[in-house]
Amino acid sequence: MKSVRFRVNGHPVTVDVPPAMSLQTVLRDVLNLTGTKDGCRGGECGACTVLVDGEPVNSCLIPVCQIQDREVITIEAFERPGEPHPLIRAFAEQNAVQCGFCTPGMILSAAGLLAENPRPDRETIRTVLAGNICRCTGYENIFRATDIRY
Ligand code: FES
Ligand code: FES
Repeated sequence: MKSVRFRVNGHPVTVDVPPAMSLQTVLRDVLNLTGTKDGCRGGECGACTVLVDGEPVNSCLIPVCQIQDREVITIEAFERPGEPHPLIRAFAEQNAVQCGFCTPGMILSAAGLLAENPRPDRETIRTVLAGNICRCTGYENIFRATDIRY
């Protein structure tokens, strides 16, 4: 076991877990932050995407020991009762959500992109979201929602 200290959505946390346990498992099973989805566990689907120090990453591929002293943002940070985050509102307005399984990962990838580039062109959006698989929407509504400016 190893004690790993980091911040999640602005809050300091310390977990005592096997060092090779994935960040995804720690978030979901230890910290009960189940908005981060559990898809392929192999870096293929993007459902587990979170931001680590502002960068979108597949949390299923990252041993939690690599997260020591870093800042993790999950979809739970986007919950704002009464005042939806602009990306949440955009996804709703553009009908970019069907079953919703891909949505947390899509929004984290979109947020990472928009933080770097607030005015991405459509090709950039397509390229950045290529690692996030959606089986429902056909992607166009997701691309349109991501195109909405902060
Ligand atoms: S669950 Fe991590 S990429 Fe699919
Ligand atoms: S909305 Fe169902 S997988 Fe994307």
